[in-house]
Amino acid sequence: MNENDPRIVQPGKDFYENAKWQWNSSFFHNDNKLVLELACGKGEYSVGLAPHYPKKNFVGVDIKGERMRVGSQKANENNYSNVWFLRTLVHHIDNFFEQDEVDEIWVIHPDPRPKNRDAKKRLTHPRFLHMYEKILKPGGILRLKTDDTCLFHYSVETLVAEWRTIEAITFDLYESPLYQEHHNIVTHYEKIFREQGRNIKYVRARKTINKK
Ligand SMILES: C[S@@+](CC[C@H](N)C(=O)[O-])C[C@H]1O[C@@H](n2cnc3c(N)ncnc32)[C@H](O)[C@@H]1O
Repeated sequence: MNENDPRIVQPGKDFYENAKWQWNSSFFHNDNKLVLELACGKGEYSVGLAPHYPKKNFVGVDIKGERMRVGSQKANENNYSNVWFLRTLVHHIDNFFEQDEVDEIWVIHPDPRPKNRDAKKRLTHPRFLHMYEKILKPGGILRLKTDDTCLFHYSVETLVAEWRTIEAITFDLYESPLYQEHHNIVTHYEKIFREQGRNIKYVRARKTINKK
């Protein structure tokens, strides 16, 4: 079904091989800001933020096609012209977005990968931060939301080491003024974590030009 869904870019489609710098010109047909939702699952943030920010373009990214299909269907039902989906591993994100093409990146409840040997797979490992740094514009924003305390500590430490900047942080999003940034969006996994009584953590960092 994804093959016939023009909202989903995935292997086998022409655009999959030629996406860099083409998102706004070929898909969105405007010069609006480009926002990525990584590990998007069903794309609740892309679909949820789209009506609040009609002048931003959202691309949900995940490796699982079935999940993003749910988000794509919602975007179709609501006739949102500013939501698209890309099926790929985040490992290859810089094959799809050019240097300085992206304005914002949301990473929403990524897999915590608790084992030390899996640290390189964490979506906030330095190798990923370097890719985000490349595709983000100067002043671009990275946002991470997770229930996982170890991943959160790791991510904050890595961000401080690599980017020298943390703009805002909370260990309990639901009790924080930062909650407003989330427009009451609760993802599939967040619902489960909340039912287990887990606090949701959130950090916002900005790519600076002179970080040293
Ligand atoms: C715990 S789920 C969170 C999904 C959604 N953000 C939510 O909060 O419900 C993690 C998601 O990340 C995706 N994922 C994990 N590693 C990935 C990678 N390296 N590249 C792309 N997607 C990845 C999985 O397919 C899964 O949908």
